[in-house]
Amino acid sequence: MQVQIDQYTAEINAFSPANADELETFRIKFLGTKGIVKDLFEQFKTVGPEEKRTFGKVLNQFKQLAEAKYNDLKENFSADQSSQKSDLDMTLPGDNFQVGSRHPLSLVRNEIIDIFKRLGFNVAEGPEIEDDWHNFSALNFPEEHPARDMQDTFFIKKNTGKDDIALRTHTSSVQVRMMENGKPPFRAIMPGRVYRNEAISARAHCFFHQVEGLYIDENVSFADLKQTLYHFVQELYGEGTKVRFRPSYFPFTEPSAEMDVSCTICKGAGCNMCKYSGWVEILGCGMVDPNVLENCGIDSKKYTGFAFGMGMERIANLKYVIRDLRLFSENDERFLKQFQTEII
Ligand code: DAH
Repeated sequence: MQVQIDQYTAEINAFSPANADELETFRIKFLGTKGIVKDLFEQFKTVGPEEKRTFGKVLNQFKQLAEAKYNDLKENFSADQSSQKSDLDMTLPGDNFQVGSRHPLSLVRNEIIDIFKRLGFNVAEGPEIEDDWHNFSALNFPEEHPARDMQDTFFIKKNTGKDDIALRTHTSSVQVRMMENGKPPFRAIMPGRVYRNEAISARAHCFFHQVEGLYIDENVSFADLKQTLYHFVQELYGEGTKVRFRPSYFPFTEPSAEMDVSCTICKGAGCNMCKYSGWVEILGCGMVDPNVLENCGIDSKKYTGFAFGMGMERIANLKYVIRDLRLFSENDERFLKQFQTEII
């Protein structure tokens, strides 16, 4: 009997069915009502009492082996069958999944940063909740300047003026923080979100984005400002884009200017975007007012510099012809999907 069991054990261990039918034959042979296990248990009845203990154990192990083998294989085959039964068609083309795209303002911001980085500018940031000093006073805004008026500024705390707290109305506040906290030379751009108390429409929003630029060193002149911004525009809108500077006024720069570029849409021929003038305004700039330098603890006899500020929505608008400012913040997928897809 032991010899027989050893042979069957070897047979069971080696058994590897090719299909469910072969497995069924195995079941009938070993575990069926007239199968080998049953037969061995019949024979066991005739074994003498002294052998019963050892054989009982061997026989039970053998039965467990046969059952375990069968159960394992059964699972394999039933799993196989269920996948065969499903309508899986391996020849069908795969499902396309949506890859995210960059927001147009992020695209524009990254491009601006790239261009200025190549000119040796750092990137700096400042808080969106600002005090009166950084947003206005240090920047040479007179006490009664209309920009401090409730209509333009979201005040968080409005007291005597000097200790007002507000949402910053421009990124020029970051210039002040930078100059107060460091030593010249400074060469940085400062992108960020700004807030104005405006009714939301296609042309105005209560928040938008700016990039501020600051360059302070010895002997920096208006020629440096012009050349830097000229180069920036060539990089951003392409070689041959014309620029022109118009005199303007900002409290924190003297002289001040606004810079126009030849219309990026019609290339100066005249279109709806440039109101048929051939020119579009893209930024404000100027030589940093000596008062601002002194307010920030910088020797205005030794150092000079220029600053500029532009609206990112404006830059994006001229690149992608986005006519409604609200699109930038509505998260409409149909709008967002049109921009450069992330490459991963
Ligand atoms: N802060 C100005 C604004 O919000 C933009 C600006 C103009 C920034 C001239 C400057 C500058 O640094 O020199 O409209």
